[in-house]
Amino acid sequence: MKILVTGGAGFIGSHTCVELLNQGYEPVVIDNYSNSNPVVFDRIKKITGKNVKFYEGDIRDKEILRKIFKENDIFGTIHFAGLKAVGESVEKPLMYYENNVTGTLNLLEVMNENDVRNIIFSSSATVYGEPSEIPLTEKADLGPTNPYGQSKLMVEHIMQDLYKAENNWNIVLLRYFNPVGAHESGLIGEDPNGKPNNLFPFIVQVLIGKREMLSVFGDDYDTPDGTGVRDYIHILDLVDGHISALDLLKKECGLEIINLGTGAGYSVLQIIKEFEKATGKAVPYKVTERRSGDIATSYADPEKALNKMNWKAKYSIDKMCVDMWNWQVKNPAGY
Ligand code: NAD
Ligand code: UFG
Repeated sequence: MKILVTGGAGFIGSHTCVELLNQGYEPVVIDNYSNSNPVVFDRIKKITGKNVKFYEGDIRDKEILRKIFKENDIFGTIHFAGLKAVGESVEKPLMYYENNVTGTLNLLEVMNENDVRNIIFSSSATVYGEPSEIPLTEKADLGPTNPYGQSKLMVEHIMQDLYKAENNWNIVLLRYFNPVGAHESGLIGEDPNGKPNNLFPFIVQVLIGKREMLSVFGDDYDTPDGTGVRDYIHILDLVDGHISALDLLKKECGLEIINLGTGAGYSVLQIIKEFEKATGKAVPYKVTERRSGDIATSYADPEKALNKMNWKAKYSIDKMCVDMWNWQVKNPAGY
């Protein structure tokens, strides 16, 4: 069964391709490599022994999308392609709306033209903004605080309107919490451009000597140790959630919104300790100002994923750190 994977060369997309191949699916990737490298497909081949069919192109280009649907009998799409840097989205909102919203509209139109109406979309816990409840259920208030988060919520609304108008669509909106870690082989992982924005990639760059020290953004939050608390989820668990979501599509599920998180929160200081345990090295850090737009605490209520898709995260925080470090050590300069 062929699955179109937009953004399939990226962090989450590449790991998803591996699991799709392991499960006997045939991923067909479109990626413009704006935040990735096609060398990832050689790595995927090393892991799985299989080739991924890939097209270099942009989802804002309808012609290439039409070509892909013409050349492949696609069951459905897993839609990862998008820009994801929160800070950059504040500086370049039009670029974010154009890429994430216009790109998705194009994709939906071409899917419709081809009578393919099954889609899984990468939404984000960022749509909840300042949490109205903890843990966050899918019914919590929404209110993203930056253009990146707004673009995710806009796409959610577009897909909900589409489903209302044409209920022969099957749509799973997955709200990811904080995906981290890497494939156990150390052959694929997250390869951020320039200075990492996120905690895990920053810590491993400090540990490998690429960065001097970690800045802990604030220790005066209303949390047990004053630092920010998040729901980190192993990339392999996240990918597993997509395989479960495909099963849901096959059951003609209509539209579902589902959190993908573990349900457990860890603070920045706890994560530092976990890395120290996993690597035997100290993480030099200093406490600095809060990062603008950050919230104190965010973690998921993962019940719905269990009830609807029989999915539950199984990997622990120490494995997230060990696998992230293994990828970093084996690829000190990324791909
Ligand atoms: P990533 O940047 O590694 O992967 C995205 C891929 O999409 C990249 O390979 C990039 O080159 C490609 N791409 C971007 N715009 C494109 C376009 N117009 N046409 C074709 N390809 C395009 O990011 P990721 O971490 O793998 O995230 C995948 C998706 O999950 C994104 O939509 C992201 O917003 C969402 N998400 C990520 C996180 C996270 O923390 N990683 C959290 C929540 C949601
Ligand atoms: N942090 C630091 N120092 C750093 C980086 C992060 O102290 O150098 C802290 C943050 O203040 C926060 C925690 O570590 O308390 C996690 O920060 P990340 O940047 O790793 O993750 P966020 O929760 O801020 O955001 C991430 C993605 C968003 C996504 C969100 C929810 O960057 O795109 O998870 O999925 F929307």
